[in-house]
Amino acid sequence: MSRLIVISNRVSVPKAAGAAGAQGGLAVALNSALREHRGIWFGWSGQETEEFTGHLNMQRINDVTTATIDLEPQDIDEYYNGYANRTLWPLFHYRIDLTEYDRNFGEGYERVNARFADSVHPLIEPDDLVWVHDYHLLPLGSMLRQKGVKNRMGLFLHTPWPPARLLVSLPFHERLVGSMLEYDVIGFQTREWLGSFLHYVEKEMGLTVNEDGTIEYDGRQIVARAFPIGIDYKEFVEGAESDEAQEAYDHLKASVRGRKMLIGVDRLDYSKGLGERFESFGRFLGDYPDLASKVVLLQIAPPSRGDVASYQQIREDLERKTGHINGAHADVAFVPIRYVNRGYPRRQLAGFYRAADIGLVTPLRDGMNLVAKEYVAAQNPEAPGVLILSQFAGAALQLTDALLVNPHSIDEVSEAIKRALDMPLSERRQRHEKLLASVRDEDVVFWRDAFVKALFGEATNGNSLREEVA
Ligand code: ADP
Ligand code: F6P
Repeated sequence: MSRLIVISNRVSVPKAAGAAGAQGGLAVALNSALREHRGIWFGWSGQETEEFTGHLNMQRINDVTTATIDLEPQDIDEYYNGYANRTLWPLFHYRIDLTEYDRNFGEGYERVNARFADSVHPLIEPDDLVWVHDYHLLPLGSMLRQKGVKNRMGLFLHTPWPPARLLVSLPFHERLVGSMLEYDVIGFQTREWLGSFLHYVEKEMGLTVNEDGTIEYDGRQIVARAFPIGIDYKEFVEGAESDEAQEAYDHLKASVRGRKMLIGVDRLDYSKGLGERFESFGRFLGDYPDLASKVVLLQIAPPSRGDVASYQQIREDLERKTGHINGAHADVAFVPIRYVNRGYPRRQLAGFYRAADIGLVTPLRDGMNLVAKEYVAAQNPEAPGVLILSQFAGAALQLTDALLVNPHSIDEVSEAIKRALDMPLSERRQRHEKLLASVRDEDVVFWRDAFVKALFGEATNGNSLREEVA
């Protein structure tokens, strides 16, 4: 069996099941995927060094070998905080109002990608499959090719891919996308993002997209496909049945004292629609005063990318909104929004999800959204809660039995909360059964196997990818 060389910006060293949870879909999914596959996970340690040396810190924990490098402060500024999170992240989430174009960011991005290529190159053996992840490392494959790497290489993008009309606002967009075409397989979370990518390469680059969805480029055929990521269902359900989860459940249930509870769990990111979510909950409290003292929203939002100004602003904005809504609706012994800025061990999180009558997952734009899937997996099938899900999350294409909402419409989300609270048990069960089947059958193992199969160059199931995109 070929080894898998996984490369991503951040490497999260696998933790014991009960340890404080990794935050971010990529880290959680790759931890699970690598445990079953021999190989190496390479990336940035998250640490700073005064001068870049390329020194590899190798570790082996829980059957996963990790190799990490430290980066210089200027690298972190220009590459991670800069091009990745001030240019590509907002652009890929359709926020050109927040997108910053700075020549130094572009240079830092290329420099760090070249440093990644220099450092990982000696680890790659002839039969290895190379699997690169996310928007931080789009040109890495082409840099490895320049070093003579002939291995099969794939890229999986965890975020949305923007419509061509937005992407063309990025200076040097053709160069960036051109560099991606050195991969053999390019994977997206959904058919929607795949469709935007194929549209761009046809219209802006004049390339041919074949009936089977492959792209003709430089005498090669590149596979571009949707591979929706899933959760580690087995591990998550085991965790949800653990003593830690039960304790977390009991503790939270006791603290809400018979009230209905809504839960949100998101990195503190403007793409997650937290401001709109709080306003919707505030609208619900105002529209249904009889229910106002009978519901609680628990929002868990660990800080993320705190060196970037737009993230500092969203944090301030949410603190203001929470204060405002709580000020208007709290009582001496009751606060409607519990807003918590910290991470929790995954088993505790599972207990919290199970204790919640409603999962409120309302991003304005999201590549997939694993929290929606975790909420479904954690429910008691006999008395499940209701998932309210943004139509703009990639997960909405699979989880069609959730209450799908437009997160920009405060009234629509408020009404969905009312509908979820009123929903009869039989309907909750019917919906949950279908949601659970999707979360269980299209889990992280399914995702990994589909991608690795494509990376091996094995034929797909014969469906016309063109049809899938349509
Ligand atoms: P993103 O990748 O944009 O962060 P996802 O919803 O796809 O969004 O993935 C988020 C992951 O991070 C989920 O697995 C979730 O459980 C985890 N997570 C988010 N917040 C916390 C938290 N406070 N404590 C522990 N894990 C968290
Ligand atoms: O899933 C999107 C993503 O950007 C991942 O690439 C990343 O690991 C996660 O969100 C968390 O972001 P960060 O690594 O910047 O904390």
